[in-house]
Amino acid sequence: MCGIVGFSGKNNASEILINSLKKLEYRGYDSAGIAVFEGGNIRIEKSKGRLADLEAKLSTVGEPNGTCGIGHTRWATHGEPSDVNSHPHSTARIAIVHNGIIENYKVLKEFLIEQGRSFQSETDTEVIVQMLDHYYTGNPISAIVQTLRELTGSFALGILFADFPDTIFAIRRESPLIVGVGENASYIASDVPAILQYTKDYYLLEHNEIAVLSPYGTSIYDMHYKKLDKELKTADFDMEAAEKQGFAHFMLKEIHEQPTAVKTTITPCIENGLPNFEGMDFSKYKKLFIVACGTAYYAGVVGKYVIEKLAKIPVDVDIASEFRYREPLVGADDLVIIISQSGETADSLASLRLAKKLGACTLAIINVKGSSIAREADLLLYTHAGPEIAVASTKAYIVQISVMYLLAFQLALVNDKITENECTEYVKLLQTTPEIIEKMLENKEAVQYVSSSLVNTESLFYIGRGLDYALSLEGSLKLKEISYIHSESYGAGELKHGPISLITRDMPVVAIATQTMLFDKTISNIKEVRARGAKVIIVCKEKTEIDADVADYVLYIPDLQNDLLNPMLTVIPLQLLAYYTSVLKGNDVDQPRNLAKSVTVE
Ligand code: G6P
Repeated sequence: MCGIVGFSGKNNASEILINSLKKLEYRGYDSAGIAVFEGGNIRIEKSKGRLADLEAKLSTVGEPNGTCGIGHTRWATHGEPSDVNSHPHSTARIAIVHNGIIENYKVLKEFLIEQGRSFQSETDTEVIVQMLDHYYTGNPISAIVQTLRELTGSFALGILFADFPDTIFAIRRESPLIVGVGENASYIASDVPAILQYTKDYYLLEHNEIAVLSPYGTSIYDMHYKKLDKELKTADFDMEAAEKQGFAHFMLKEIHEQPTAVKTTITPCIENGLPNFEGMDFSKYKKLFIVACGTAYYAGVVGKYVIEKLAKIPVDVDIASEFRYREPLVGADDLVIIISQSGETADSLASLRLAKKLGACTLAIINVKGSSIAREADLLLYTHAGPEIAVASTKAYIVQISVMYLLAFQLALVNDKITENECTEYVKLLQTTPEIIEKMLENKEAVQYVSSSLVNTESLFYIGRGLDYALSLEGSLKLKEISYIHSESYGAGELKHGPISLITRDMPVVAIATQTMLFDKTISNIKEVRARGAKVIIVCKEKTEIDADVADYVLYIPDLQNDLLNPMLTVIPLQLLAYYTSVLKGNDVDQPRNLAKSVTVE
C-alpha cells in the first residue's frame, strides 16, 4: 500500500528521499511528503497528489536542507487524499511516516482526546504520533515500546524525534520494511528497489524489531532493548532491472521481459527433462487448495484446470479474502498453495497462517525474496520475474502459470497419471514457450490496431470455456485495471443465463477460443452475441478458419499442438490489448487510479 523511505547520512536528504519515493510510487500515489532535519528542527513538506506535485511544491518553497529525513507516498485508507491527511504526521517533537493500518485507532484516539490532545487529520496514523508523544519523556525507544504495546494492526514506521537530530527510528509489524546499509549512510524503505540506486546491502527487519539509523551506522534492537546481530543481505538484482530502459512504460517493458522471466523461473525446476522440486514430496496430498488475490488468483485458476486435468487431484481455488473467513475444510492431508508476487498481500498472508493452523502443509509461490509469505510457508518456490514495477501485473502472472504447469506435470507423474516420457514431452513444450512469446512480441501492431476499436467503449465482456475462461478472467481484469473500461468475464456457456441481456451494438465481446475441444461450443456462443449486434474480437490459434460473419477482428496465437499449454501464449494478446487501449485513452498505464501494487491491508 503506502511506501515509506528514510535516509540518514552526509548527503542531500531531500533529493535522496524523493529519488527513493519515485521507486515506491507503485505502492500508492494519493499524496507524498517528506520530513527533514533542517538546522536542528524538523521541516515537513507534503502535498496531495503524485510525487510530481510535491516536487513542484518544493521547487517553489525550496526543498528542506538537511542530511536526515523520512518520506512517504500514500494509498489512502483512513481519510480522503488531501494535504492534511498526507504523511508525515507530527507533533511539535515527533514526525512519522506509516505504512499499514491501525485497527484500534478509534479507541486510542478517544483516549488521547480525553488526555487533552487534538487531531488535525482523519488518519489512523496521527494516533501513533500522538501516542508516541504521550509516552515520550526523553527516551525514544521507551516511547516506541510503550506505544507498540497499545497498537493493533499492521505497520511499518519511520520516526524522527526533534531531540535526536540526524537519527531515524524505524519499526515494523506485518508491513514490510528493510534497512539499507551504505558508506556513512543508512536507509529505510518498504521495498529494496527504492534504495538500489544507493546500496544493495540491507537488513530485513522482523516483526517488532526497532532500528536506529544514523550516518555512523544502524543498530537493531528487540522490544527488550537487546541489540540484535542480523544477517546482512545483498540484493540480487540491480538498478537496471528497476528502470524503463527505453520502453514507454514499465508495463510494456515487463511484457517484453516475459520470455526471460519464464526461462529463469522454470530452468532451476527442471533436471534431466523432468520437473525437479528439490526434496519436495508431492505424492501424499489428497486435495490441493490454491489461495491468492487478484492476478495471482487467476494464475491459480489456470493451475486448477491444469492440475485436475493432468494429475486428477481435486483443487479448490480461492480468493484469499474469502478463504480466510469461510472456515475452509482444510486438513493435514492437504497442500495449500499460496501464490503471491509481493509475498506481502495481507489476505494471502492471513490465509497462509490459517492453513498452517489447520494442519495443512503450505507451499508459497512468491516473486519477492525474503517477503513475509516466503518466510512463513513450509515449502517455498520462487518465481524469477525480477522486480515488477507496473501496478498491472504481467510477467509475474506468466511465471506463476509456468510454475503451475511444472507442478501439474510433477503431480501427474508422482501419482502415475502420466508416464515419464509424457512428462518429458510436456516439459519440453513448456520450454519452447519463451522463444515463441519472443516472436509474438515482434508483431504487436495487430493488437494495437484492435485496441483502437475499444477506445470509446464503455463496457465489454470477455468470454471463454475451460482454460480459455481462466484466461478471460485475467484479460478482463487487465483491461479494466488500466483502461477504466467496465469489463466482465463469463464462462461462454453462462452468457445466456443473464449477461446476454446486456448485449447491444455498443458492447464488444472478446472471445477466447484456443481450445479445440470446446471451439465449436464457443463459436455457438459467439454467434448468439453476434446475432444481438455485438462487435466480436476473437483470440484463437493460427490457421483457425473464422467466418467473416463470426468476428470483426481476429488475434492469432501460434499453435503449440497441445492446447493445454495455450494459456502461456494466449495471455500475450490480452495483455497488449489492455496496454494499448490504456495508452490510446491517455491513461497513466503504470500507475492506474485507485490501485496499489502491494496490498498489505485487508
Ligand atoms: C494487487 C495488485 C495486483 C496483484 C494483487 C495480488 O491488487 O494490483 O496486481 O495481483 O494485488 O498481489 P500479490 O503480490 O499477492 O500477487
